[in-house]
This record gives sequence, C-alpha cells and structure tokens, in this order.
Amino acid sequence: MHHLVVTGGRRLQGEVAVLGAKKAVLKHLVATLMAPGRHRLDNIPDIIDVSLMGSVISHIGATCRFSGTSIEIDVPDDLLPEAPIDLVRRMRASILVLGALLARCGEARVALPGGDDFGSRPIDMHLDGLKALGAEFELVHGELRARAPGGLRGAEVPLEFPSVGATENLLFAGVMAAGTTVIHNAAREPEIQDLAEFLSKMGAVIRGAGTSTIEIEGVPRLSPASHRAVPDRLEAGTYLVAGAITGGDVTVRDCVPEHLRMDLRKLADTGCEVDTGKDWVRVQGPVRPKPVDFATLPYPGFHTDMHPQMVALLSVASGTSVITENIYAARFRYVGELNRLGADVSIEGQHVIIRGIQQLSGCPVDACDIRAGAALVLAGLVADGFTTVTDAHHIDRGYSSFDQHLRDLGADVVREPVGSEVDHP
Ligand code: EPU
Repeated sequence: MHHLVVTGGRRLQGEVAVLGAKKAVLKHLVATLMAPGRHRLDNIPDIIDVSLMGSVISHIGATCRFSGTSIEIDVPDDLLPEAPIDLVRRMRASILVLGALLARCGEARVALPGGDDFGSRPIDMHLDGLKALGAEFELVHGELRARAPGGLRGAEVPLEFPSVGATENLLFAGVMAAGTTVIHNAAREPEIQDLAEFLSKMGAVIRGAGTSTIEIEGVPRLSPASHRAVPDRLEAGTYLVAGAITGGDVTVRDCVPEHLRMDLRKLADTGCEVDTGKDWVRVQGPVRPKPVDFATLPYPGFHTDMHPQMVALLSVASGTSVITENIYAARFRYVGELNRLGADVSIEGQHVIIRGIQQLSGCPVDACDIRAGAALVLAGLVADGFTTVTDAHHIDRGYSSFDQHLRDLGADVVREPVGSEVDHP
C-alpha cells in the first residue's frame, strides 16, 4: 500500500507515451478463453486490473506468461467454468467471463461483480441480452449460475442503454451462437471495435462494431490469435490535463487523437493550445483555464472517466463551470476530497458546479477510485505545499507507472509506503 506525495508548483513539460487501454486488454484476456491454443497480446500496461484478470482466467484454466508489455496465454480444451468471488468482487469486468464461458462451456458460475463505487451498477442488460440468446440464470448464495441448455442461439437484442459491458458480453455469446445475433443500440467505444478486431482474427464474423448496430454470424469454433491493444485514451487524456492544469506543454505519443476528440475540444475551450499528429497530441496549457460546461455521454460523447480530471482542472478556472454526469448516479465521492484542497465544488442532482478559485492548498486526500485518484494527483500538481493522496492502489488499477510518468514530465511526485507519512507544513 502506498501514498503519492505531490508537491505543487511545477510546470509540466515533455513527452509521455501510453500503452494499451485497460478497457480493451481486460476484454482481450477474456476473449482468449474462447479458443484453445496459444494467444499473444501486446502493448499491455503493467496495472493491477490486468494481473487480476490474469488471475481470473488462470483460475478458469488458462496459463498466462507476462513478459514486458506482452502476455502469452495458453488456453486448454477443458475449462473450469467459474470465476471466484474474491476476484470478481474486486473487479466488475470479471462479469464478462459469463458470455465467454456460456459460449465455450454452455455454463458459467460467476459471483455478482464489485468494482468502483459509483452507486448501484446493475447487470440487468447483460442478463436480459444473454437470456434472449438462450441462457438461463439462477442466483444462489450470491453466485450467478448460468446455463444454456439448448445451446446459444442468435437473436435480435435491443439494449436499453449502450452499455459497454453488456455489448461485450453479447459479442462473446454471439460469436459462437447458432445463427445471427444483432445488437441494437450497441456501445460504440473504440475498445469495442478493438475487441471485435481481436475476435475477428480468431475467426469470428462481426459487422458494424464501432456503430450502434452490430451484426454477428455465429461460427462453431474459434482459433487462437495475436493482437496489439488500442492505445489508452483515458491515460492519454489524463496526462494532457496534467499539462493543461500546470500551464505546461505536454505531448502524448502512441495515442489515437481521433479517440480523444471530445477531450481535446473541451481542453481547447479552456484556453489550451492543442496540436495533433497521426499518433500524438500536444497540449499547451493557459496561464489560467477558462470555465467550460459539458455533459458526460456514451462514446463519442464526453467520457465519464475523464470527468473527475476535468473537474480538477476547472477547480482553478477563472469562472464557474457546470458538468452533468449522465452515466453514473453517484460518481461524486471525489468532490469532498477536492474541496479539502480548497476547491469550491458542489453537487446538485446530477450536476457538478465548479466555482473556480485562484489557488488550491495541499492536504491529505483519499483516492476513492481510479479516476478520482488521478484527478486528486492532478489537483496536487497546482496546490500550494504537499498533497498526500492515500490509497494509491486505486490509481495503480488503471495507470501504469503514473508517478514515474509525471516525474518524467517534471512533476514532484513521490511514492511512499503507508506508515511513512510526511509532515504537512
Ligand atoms: N448499467 C445498467 N445495467 C446494465 C449495465 C449497465 O444499468 O446491465 C448502467 C451502469 O450502472 C452505468 C451505465 O449503465 O450507470 C454504464 O455502464 P456500462 O455497462 O457502459 O459500463 P461498464 O461496462 O460497467 C465500462 C468501463 C468503465 C466505464 C464505463 C462507461 C471497463 C472495465 N469499465 O464499465 O471504466 O466507466 O464502461 O464508459 O471497461 C474505469 O476505467 O475507470 C471505469 C470505471
């Protein structure tokens, strides 16, 4: 367990390269279960959630060998169709083994998922969709027991909301179901497109991934494949906001600027100068950001996972901004922590009202989830004195070498083991 201790006041400058997206790699690991044999995944970030998902698929029978930024995964013919409660509780993405195991084994036992605390996060759309494909579910002692007695059969599935996870579970189930599956109102995230690309390399027949209508022709079996994960747009966006908040000059390399379109537009609205190339983005921050308003929406709208970082930036803006959170009912736990740093942020229903102040003031704050933790570190970069961000393991779930990357850009960020608290001036 570690804290990150940030001493504010440094202007960030330089370049940082990002690796593959957490949101893609976790799903690729699950996808390997669909085909026996040896798979290879590249561009893998060294983050806690990737090791956790490695443990989930290892429990099911796969063997994972990590080497630098690659993983080789051997998947046997016979799988143990269950995900253990201790792992599933720690990571919501474990629920995705449901579709994959139903497709591969015709049954699955998965504990109900945990993950970041953003209020209630049901899985009704996952279950309704899988039921339409022929699955049956029973909840026994907190464990979801799934079976597809007649095998999975293709179906038309209209999603009530373009849920990322439900779209992915249906992709897994649909690629080996008999006949055609059509997902209407599917999530359009770049990571969904990337998952479809990996599954297609394995022999799946998928049309329309990245659009609202995905059509899948089921095939009887898939073969192992290799894949390089799409770059992490959240990691890229977070470093760009680090540049913006410090009035710095930060270039993120190995990213896909098109996937950051909405973030870049809003950063430009705050007064940042934004330049892009084929696989890089440069942001030069203003002396003081201007206020902006926006609402989080499914892709290609503004990403909810960039909301806390943008609030950190807007907390020192020259006026009042309003952000409307449309994806999660309760993604606001970080607000109290940010206010401890002196920010003037209030919540009205789903709206976050941010009255920009001149200067934040460092103190101990708690990283309550991945993006909240990152946002508090960003705020610490411009706070007066020390900001100690506790529970930094939340940040390590989604960002590899976060503090090292920030140091490379010139930040004063130190990782300290719990128990070696610093004195605050
Ligand atoms: N929802 C339901 N019922 C369902 C499924 C979702 O009501 O059956 C609701 C959720 O409660 C939430 C909304 O729909 O309010 C969106 O959920 P979605 O299913 O799209 O999200 P997810 O698949 O659980 C992924 C990411 C999250 C990211 C969301 C939204 C992964 C591993 N997780 O979660 O990422 O916030 O999509 O884009 O891909 C993060 O990386 O920090 C993170 C939390």
